[in-house]
Amino acid sequence: MFNNKTVLITGGTGSFGRAFVRKLLANSPKKVIIYSRDEQKHFEMGQEFGGKEMRYFIGDVRDRDRLTRAMEGVDYCVHAAAMKHVPIAEYNPMECIKTNINGAQNVIDAALFSGVSKVIALSTDKAASPINLYGATKLASDKLFTAANNIRGAHPTKFSVVRYGNVIGSKGSVVPLFQKLIANGAKTLPITDTRMSRFWITLDQGADFVLKSFANMHGGEIFVPKIPSMKMIDLAKAMLPDGAIDLIGIRAGEKLHEAMITEDDSRHTFEFADYFVITPTINFAQAVDFAVSAQGEQGRAVAEGFMYASDTNNRWLTSGELLSMTKVR
Ligand SMILES: NC(=O)c1ccc[n+]([C@@H]2O[C@H](COP(=O)([O-])OP(=O)(O)OC[C@H]3O[C@@H](n4cnc5c(N)ncnc54)[C@H](OP(=O)(O)O)[C@@H]3O)[C@@H](O)[C@H]2O)c1
Repeated sequence: MFNNKTVLITGGTGSFGRAFVRKLLANSPKKVIIYSRDEQKHFEMGQEFGGKEMRYFIGDVRDRDRLTRAMEGVDYCVHAAAMKHVPIAEYNPMECIKTNINGAQNVIDAALFSGVSKVIALSTDKAASPINLYGATKLASDKLFTAANNIRGAHPTKFSVVRYGNVIGSKGSVVPLFQKLIANGAKTLPITDTRMSRFWITLDQGADFVLKSFANMHGGEIFVPKIPSMKMIDLAKAMLPDGAIDLIGIRAGEKLHEAMITEDDSRHTFEFADYFVITPTINFAQAVDFAVSAQGEQGRAVAEGFMYASDTNNRWLTSGELLSMTKVR
């Protein structure tokens, strides 16, 4: 579906963006447009991905005019740009709101104006029943993208969201932090709480899931992949088997466990073979049967009260699986 198509990725120089571009280039796109602020990251990415399809646009998602210019002639857009560090968002709340919420609306407006065919915005488990500003801004962003399907009028653009959990190996995440500590000779690893669990996905799996969701989307879905959980303490033990644990205590704004689908979402969630779809909480002007994917796969409603949470997940990572996932680029 990407053959000879033009794709724009906001935040394309980030961890997800680079993994996604690698996949995309194998699908013979016409053009791949990277949209983000820091020229150094563009320069470095240009050296690594120098293909004739690549275009590098310096721009901020807060700048709607620049986004509109960048989206001219674009078929598909992935919105990955975000502020994502919980404590930094708490300390600089308005900056996080400007990027994650105003930026989302700018992406929507620019995509509608330019007649982009499909947009997928990346979300996070922290957006389900959020307790920190990062999660709250991503929930607001999810709502904007869902509702955008209702305001598109005569525009052809469809908007959906992909929500997943911790990405192994993404910039600023715990696995690279532990790898760095271990490389520097650490004999202990810091853990906030022995009970803490998280969902885990690799960059490759995240990129594949987004590619697949473009084909599956009607517009309006929050796609949630079925992925395994692991306790943070088991992750630390897997990475440093002979090491000790330094219990540092849970941080404000952190949950013991994350959920991707809450009990209240269960009333409007369908389960498919490899993923769930949370359907919109508003009625669209044109009714959509979300029980069947755009590819024709039949889903089934989940039981009322169902929760998809990292502590009650039925799939758990073993140490061996975790270690092989940390080796994937
Ligand atoms: N990493 C995870 O564990 C995880 C889990 C679930 C969901 N997600 C979501 O996945 C998405 C991508 O995450 P990631 O791990 O790839 O993040 P990342 O590595 O930190 O990359 C973020 C990208 O966004 C760009 N960006 C930031 N602010 C921007 C702005 N105002 N305007 C334009 N570009 C901006 C950054 O480049 P510049 O700074 O140069 O602009 C960079 O290219 C995010 O939406 C995040 O919420 C991530």
